[in-house]
Parts: sequence; C-alpha cells; structure tokens
Amino acid sequence: MNVPEFMNAKAQGRKLSVLTAYDCLWAAMLDEAGIDALLVGDSMGMVFQGQTSTLPVTLEQMIYHGEIVCRATKKALVIVDLPFMSYQVSSRQAVRNAGKVLKETGCGAVKLEGGVQQAKTIERLAACDLPVMAHVGMRPQSVRKLGKMSAVQRDEKQLLADAVAAERSGAFAIVLELIPAAIAQRITETLTIPTIGIGAGPHCDGQVLVTPDMFGLTGFKPKFMKLYADLKSSIIDGAKRYAEDIRKGEFPTEQHSH
Ligand code: KIV
Ligand code: NA
Repeated sequence: MNVPEFMNAKAQGRKLSVLTAYDCLWAAMLDEAGIDALLVGDSMGMVFQGQTSTLPVTLEQMIYHGEIVCRATKKALVIVDLPFMSYQVSSRQAVRNAGKVLKETGCGAVKLEGGVQQAKTIERLAACDLPVMAHVGMRPQSVRKLGKMSAVQRDEKQLLADAVAAERSGAFAIVLELIPAAIAQRITETLTIPTIGIGAGPHCDGQVLVTPDMFGLTGFKPKFMKLYADLKSSIIDGAKRYAEDIRKGEFPTEQHSH
C-alpha cells in the first residue's frame, strides 16, 4: 500500500483499516492480517514506555520504532508520528525532521498534529514530496492546553477549518480524534482526502485504534473502543501456569529434554 493507493480508497468507496504498531512482532501480525496502514504512533510513549502522556517521546525513539516496524512490514503503508516539539518550532525544523524520519526508517509517510496551526508546515512538507497526514480534534500533544486527553472537541467551525486547512495545504489524509459523529461526517463529506477516525463515529473513510487497547493489554476501555480479544488475561494465566509448573516440577519433563 502506498500513499496514492491509500488516497484512492476514498474515491473507490473502500474503507481503510489502520492500527498502531511499535515493534516487529506486532507489525508482522497486523500486516499479515491485511491492515491497510500501520501507524507508529507516539502513543508508543504511553503504551510501550509507560509514560502518562506522549510529550516525552523523542525523534530518535520514533525513528528507532519506525525502522523496526518498517522492516517487519511487507504490504501495509507505514506512517510514523512526528513527536512533540520535533516540528512545532518552524517549518524548517519540520522538513528536516520529517526528512530524517523518512530516510532513516523507510516509512511511507509521517503524521503531525494540527490543522490551521500547522498549515504552513504541511505545505512545506508537501512541497518537498514528504507525504504528511494531519491529526485534528483531540490532539494528545496539546494535552497541557486542552486539560485532559479525554476532552471531546465540539467546536464545529474550528474543526472544519482545521480539516480544510490540512487538505488545502497538501495533507494526504487526516485523523479525526474524539469529535462528535455528525461533525466527522460533515468533514468527511467536505474533504476529498480520507478521514481516519478514532472516537469520531461511523462516517469516516477509515478507522484507527491503539492496538494494545483493542486486544485488552492496557486496560484502557474508552467508549469508542471495541475489544477484539482479551490477551492480558490469557498472558497472565499462561505465565501463572508456567510458574506453577516449575514449582511443581511439571516443566520441563523428559519430553522437553535433550
Ligand atoms: O499516537 C497514536 O497512536 C495516534 C493515533 C491514536 C491516531 O496518533
Ligand atoms: Na499520535
């Protein structure tokens, strides 16, 4: 899957599936499952590093995870998040860092948070043929300003302006996070680029979820999430049985010995 194919899906009426991946085990499984795009999200800071926000994540860490995910992915489009303060300083900084991410990971595109605020930067990236996805609505990198990460964004005029600014500036797609379904529908109908929703209702052109959440690994269960498997309890159960087997002398047996 490349950027033009991803964009064309909207015109063809084919809904896009996107999931986050941070390592090669998960990237390979999700790729084999036929997921259209793998997002190396800066949610990595929370679900992989155990931080309370995405703010501490560095560019070097995103490149490290991005390169690993790209190596394990054969078909899906890989999109790597630009972390907090790696593009906000200036569009020159953004071009330099997005270029570094593309060169050093082999990914197909980068993502940044913002619409109107980042219009000039999106334009500069697009002018360098660096495919960029925008992200509007609830923007986790703006948590200090928004107050909390679960704050649904409801200012229709602002949201529409952000989405339109992203498209006009040359974004190839846009994430809509935590906004009312009716506003997401209006944005989806207004834009020609695909909208990828998370907590944005059923009318977007595609959906994205944080993979460890949907498999029950994090215990984070917001209203917009659907649990597709409860792996945490299976893993804890497996580890308990392993420990018990060792204590009882039931593993390893002759069968497991050379
Ligand atoms: O970092 C991330 O995982 C994201 C998605 C939730 C869109 O930005
Ligand atoms: Na992100």
